[in-house]
Order: sequence, then structure tokens, then C-alpha cells
Amino acid sequence: MGDRGKALVGLGVFILLVTFPLWGRLAGGQPVPGRDDLVYPDPAKATDCIEARDWMTANHMNLLNRWRDDLVRRGVTEYVSSSGKRYYPSLTKTCLDCHDDRDKFCNRCHDYAHVTPTCWECHTTPGGGA
Ligand code: HEC
Ligand code: HEC
Ligand code: HEC
Repeated sequence: MGDRGKALVGLGVFILLVTFPLWGRLAGGQPVPGRDDLVYPDPAKATDCIEARDWMTANHMNLLNRWRDDLVRRGVTEYVSSSGKRYYPSLTKTCLDCHDDRDKFCNRCHDYAHVTPTCWECHTTPGGGA
């Protein structure tokens, strides 16, 4: 095999490696568990998330990144949702204040989808498990 052939094999291996998490997810079937498998906030506390549910399912990781950049880099202490509600942009103080059972909400979904966010190494949760 010439250098070009080796380069192509190398590229193929590289693509397989970087897309591996995706293969795992596809092989696992549905990317998210059903609603019955997740523990939502008590309806007495909240019936809506910050944005529409489907939007949250698809975009919560981007929202969290934005919140981190807003608060830490830009000093912005308020997020105004599309419905006009105001939230303090914090993973533990805001998201986990409502989603207080992290194990049966965030983690259950992530285990199912084979994703392991590293956030919890630094962001500890009040009573929400390790
Ligand atoms: C005010 C309480 C509250 C806050 C704050 C909140 N959530 Fe939610 N969240 C809810 C409720 C209630 C639902 C279910 C909404 C529904 O049934 O329409 C939900 C739904 C979701 C879903 C969709 C789950 C599914 O069924 O597919 C995700 C993902 C989510 N929240 C993540 C987050 C994240 C991440 C944050 C912080 C950025 C956050 N939530 C902040 C109350 C909240
Ligand atoms: C309905 C299922 C579901 C729920 C509930 C859920 N997540 Fe996720 N989350 C996902 C999926 C699926 C991904 C991977 C998305 C991708 O890579 O495209 C993800 C990715 C993430 C990421 C990015 C991880 C990375 O390494 O890039 C963060 C951060 C995150 N979720 C935080 C949370 C937090 C905090 C909660 C609970 C408040 C939560 N999620 C609840 C399904 C969920
Ligand atoms: C190496 C440690 C570390 C890791 C890992 C980490 N963070 Fe942070 N994060 C910090 C520190 C330090 C701050 C700034 C201190 C503060 O204001 O709380 C911060 C601030 C934030 C904030 C704004 C403040 C708040 O109360 O939430 C958000 C949102 C956030 N990080 C989200 C995330 C998400 C989502 C992940 C995982 C994808 C993550 N962080 C992973 C250390 C970390």
C-alpha cells in the first residue's frame, strides 16, 4: 500500500473514532428514554421549563454553554426566556433547583444516550447525588 492508501486508512480510522459515540447511540435505539422513565419537577413547583420542552430536549447543552459564557465571561446575570421570564444563569442554582432529582432526570437520560457530561466534577448539587 502506498502512502496515499495508508493516509486513507488512517482517515477512515479517525472518522470511526470521532463518530463512535454516535454509533453507540444509534445502536442503543432511541436517543432518549420515555417520559415515564424520567422524574420531572413537582407540578406544584413548575409545569414548564425555561423554554419549550422539545426545544430544551434538543438544545439544553447549548443553553448551558451560553449561560456559562454569559455569567463567567460577560458578567450577564440574567437570562430572559422567549416567554419573557427571567432566570439567573446557573446550572446548580437554577436548573437543579427545579430538576432536584439529578439521578432520575439528567443522569438517567444521559446514561441512556451514552453521554457523560463532566460538569459534575466541579458543579456539586445540593442533595442531588455525588
Ligand atoms: C422553573 C423550573 C425549571 C427550571 C429552572 C428548569 N427546568 Fe427543565 N423542565 C422543567 C419542567 C416542568 C419540565 C417539563 C416540561 C413539560 O412537561 O412541558 C422540564 C423539561 C426539561 C427537559 C426536557 C425533558 C424531556 O421530557 O425531554 C430538559 C432537557 C430540561 N428540562 C433541562 C433543563 C436544564 C438543563 C435547565 C437549566 C438550563 C432546566 N431544565 C431548568 C422545569 C424546569
Ligand atoms: C430527555 C433526555 C435528557 C435529559 C432529561 C437531559 N439531557 Fe443532557 N443531554 C441529552 C443528550 C441526548 C445529550 C447529547 C446530545 C448530543 O451530543 O447531541 C445531552 C448532553 C448534555 C450536555 C453536553 C454534554 C457534552 O459532553 O457535550 C450537558 C452539559 C447536559 N446534557 C446537561 C444536562 C443537565 C444538567 C440535565 C438535567 C437538568 C440534562 N442534561 C438532562 C439528553 C438529556
Ligand atoms: C474544571 C471545573 C469545571 C467543569 C468541569 C465545569 N465547570 Fe462550569 N464553572 C466552573 C467554575 C469555576 C465556574 C465559575 C464559578 C461560578 O460562578 O460558579 C463555572 C461556571 C459555570 C456556569 C455559570 C455559573 C453557575 O452557577 O452555573 C455554568 C452555567 C456552567 N459553569 C456550566 C457548566 C457545564 C454545563 C459544564 C459541563 C459541560 C461545566 N460547567 C463544567 C467550573 C467548571
